[in-house]
Amino acid sequence: MLINFKNYRESTGKNALTIARIAEKVSDELGVVISVAPTFIDAVKVKESVSIPVYAQHVDPVGYGSYTGHVTMENLKEYSIDGVIINHSERNVMVKDIEFAVKKARDLGMKSMVCSSTPSISGSVAVFNPDYIAIEPPELIGGDVSVSVARPEIITESVNIVKKISPETQVLCGAGVKTGSDVRKAIELGSSGILVASGVIKARDVEKAISDLANALR
Ligand code: G3P
Repeated sequence: MLINFKNYRESTGKNALTIARIAEKVSDELGVVISVAPTFIDAVKVKESVSIPVYAQHVDPVGYGSYTGHVTMENLKEYSIDGVIINHSERNVMVKDIEFAVKKARDLGMKSMVCSSTPSISGSVAVFNPDYIAIEPPELIGGDVSVSVARPEIITESVNIVKKISPETQVLCGAGVKTGSDVRKAIELGSSGILVASGVIKARDVEKAISDLANALR
């Protein structure tokens, strides 16, 4: 389970540390792998403060050099960031940049999670053999209806196509995931886990929200 902090007020700055510590506590208690993806600015401090995996929300397709305003995989690696989200629908990149980032992550021993909005895009990016592909229909992001309920076929079709092309890649799903029952349905459909944001970040009781989702993953 990866909690994407995005740029919500509730999950940036000091709040990023608070939520990451809650995620770590729940992960320890339930024995479920819970990763967090704070903003670039918060990621280093979060990484220093918790023992759960920390992901960056994006990475630019460049290495060391004359690149103003870019974030490189090498720089993330230097601060022990564990992995990167690539091609989130709120931060789409070109196909060649997806390939660059997945390969660079692999070379540096970091995890890659490529987002996709359709089964055919899931198949297209599977050829790069990322660690994870997260299927998220953009129209359901931030809403109250889970992808596993509204669009179950895009999970099953993505799982089928990805397993044929890159059997080791795990398929996660996200968008509108709010409850344990959304998660159980996602797992039934072949998903290995979830990518979630508002269901945790906007919850009245963040610990309960994370625990409910994590319990359903056990
Ligand atoms: O990256 C996770 C995401 O886009 C899903 O967002 O708010 O629907 O859980 P949300």
